[in-house]
This record gives sequence, C-alpha cells and structure tokens, in this order.
Amino acid sequence: MGDLKPSIFFHSAIDSPDEWRAALATQFDDFTFSVSSGVGNPESVDIALIWTVPEEGLERFINLRAILSLGAGIDQMNLGRLPKQVPIARLVHSSLARTMVDYAKTAVYRYHRRFHLFERQSRNCRWAFIPPTLTADTSVGILGLGEIGREIALALRREGFDVRGWSRTPKQLEGVITYTSRDGLKTMVGCSNIVLNVLPLTDETRHILSRDLFAQFRDGTCLINMGRGTHLVEADLLEAIASGKVEAATLDVTSVEPLPPTHPFWNHGSILITPHVAGASRAMTAVATIAANIRRAMVGERLLHQVDLDRDHGVSQ
Ligand SMILES: NC(=O)c1ccc[n+]([C@@H]2O[C@H](COP(=O)([O-])OP(=O)(O)OC[C@H]3O[C@@H](n4cnc5c(N)ncnc54)[C@H](OP(=O)(O)O)[C@@H]3O)[C@@H](O)[C@H]2O)c1
Repeated sequence: MGDLKPSIFFHSAIDSPDEWRAALATQFDDFTFSVSSGVGNPESVDIALIWTVPEEGLERFINLRAILSLGAGIDQMNLGRLPKQVPIARLVHSSLARTMVDYAKTAVYRYHRRFHLFERQSRNCRWAFIPPTLTADTSVGILGLGEIGREIALALRREGFDVRGWSRTPKQLEGVITYTSRDGLKTMVGCSNIVLNVLPLTDETRHILSRDLFAQFRDGTCLINMGRGTHLVEADLLEAIASGKVEAATLDVTSVEPLPPTHPFWNHGSILITPHVAGASRAMTAVATIAANIRRAMVGERLLHQVDLDRDHGVSQ
C-alpha cells in the first residue's frame, strides 16, 4: 500500500462515513479521515470525498489535490462553489453499471411483455389475452452511450432487442445502431418502442425529455428515465401520456426527491415511480476505484474519469 498517507475529508448526507472509513482502511495502511464536525488541520487535507459541497465550503482546504464525487455524476454539487483549479472526478465502477443494467432490463422487459397492462387488468379482474412478441420486434432507443448506457445497450442487444443509441460523439457498438446530433435523436426516438434516458445532467441535456421530443415519438412509446429528474419536463410528460404519444413511463429520478406526496405522478395509472434506486454504490464495492484516484492525486497524475467542467457544465476553471 506504499507510503501514501492521504488526509481525506468526507461529506455526504446519503453515504455512511463509518462504512467509507472501514472501506478505505482496506486500501491504505495509514490515512486521516475527517468529517465536517472534526477537521483538526484543514491545510493538511488532500482529498475531498463528497456527495455535495458542505455548507462551509471547501476553501479552507488550501492544499486540496482532488475532489472525488461519491456519485456517477457531479450535478448534485453546487458547481459554482467548487474551488478553482482542483481536479474533480466522478465515481465510475463496474458494480454500479451492473445494477443499472439490471434495472434497465427489468423496466424494458416489463413493457416488452406488457406487464404494465396486465398489472392494470389484474386490479380490474380482467382476463384479456395480449399476444407476446419477440425481443427482436421491440426497439429500444437509449439516450447516452457512456460507461452505463453502453453496458445497457450491449446487454439488451444480447437479449435480442433491436437497440439504438444516441451520444454526443460517434460510437461503434456491435449490433447497435448509433446516432449523433439533434436530428439523429429525432430519428432514433421515431424508430423506438421504448426510449431510455441515461444521460448526465448538463446545460445541454436539461429538459431534453420535453414536448418537442415527445412530438417525434411513435404513438404509444414507453419512457424510462434513469438519468436525472430535470432531464424531463414533468408537465410535458403528463400531456404526452394524455395524448397517447407516451403509453407509460418508469421514472427512477424526479425533479424534486423525494417526490412530494401531492405530486400528480403518484397514483397516475401509467407512471411507475422508483425512489432513485437504479444504481447503487456501496463503499466496499466502490473503494478500489476511489483509492486508485486518491493514489493518482497524491502523485499529481490525472484522475480517472476526471470531469471537464468547462465542456460539460459551462464552468471555467
Ligand atoms: N438513477 C440512478 O441511480 C443513477 C445512477 C448512476 C448514474 N445515473 C445517471 O447516469 C448518467 C450517465 O452516467 P455515465 O457514467 O454513463 O456517464 P458518461 O460515461 O459520462 O456517459 C454520458 C453519455 O452521454 C452522452 N452525452 C453527454 N452529453 C450529451 C449531449 N449533449 N448530447 C448527446 N449525448 C451526450 C455522452 O456522449 P459522448 O460519449 O459522445 O461524450 C456519453 O455517451 C449519470 O450522469 C447520472 O445522471 C443515474
């Protein structure tokens, strides 16, 4: 484990500091671990391992070498409050992608095998045969072909689905038809029975699931949102369901989380809400990736999955 003795500041309202301290102890013989209430020597802190920026900010850590997000994205942070010039990385690891793939397959099969309709029929004591179709007859269009979207695309392809995917730059994925540009996105959704979003939230992707895009959908498309809540214009979804453009939606993320009890998505017969459970990072499964980035930061190397704040979030560093 070498001579590195990183000083790590941890801040998260949703992750356990005890679990992370124990996980880091499997990677480093000697390290300092502190949380907001007990930072003895802020100048000595090397690494901020955080979900959000703490209320008191990060400025007092004047020798900070890296900010490591506890999430696959960094949009949950107030980016304007990040210290300039400190590299920031998001958390990418295979067990997160695997849980996302499982979720995507479950949600896609529920629509493909019409379980969402059978659930409704069951509640109304209705026995009505809907003939099954083959996976090859169902087209799934995926927004985002990154670490997670790519794995979802390949997994669905292995199941025999007709898979299409959209990204910013051209991609080659075996058996997957790929698109770029806004025109490409329109073409893709127009060919899809199921549209699945797994984009990161940026200025360019905010509100991408809106009336304009729904207008390009085939009638009766099913929507799965595994990205972020504000990718979706929620009122536009209700309108698209009422018009029949969208048949049903599975939403793992919403613009306000937890979704308030009075929200019209609750009890909507065509919407399934899951409480942001699609992908999960547990300390013990993610710690090797975090430790690799701590080691890189300690010797001044570029971080794995370092985020380009200027390109992706319009924040100059
Ligand atoms: N619900 C959950 O529990 C959960 C858990 C984890 C992650 N997520 C969500 O999943 C997202 C994706 O994670 P990831 O690790 O796969 O991210 P990633 O590796 O950064 O991949 C992002 C993909 O989106 C594409 N993209 C980004 N901006 C675009 C734009 N303006 N137009 C077209 N395509 C664009 C990228 O295209 P290029 O490759 O061409 O750049 C890339 O293919 C996260 O940011 C988060 O929102 C949700």
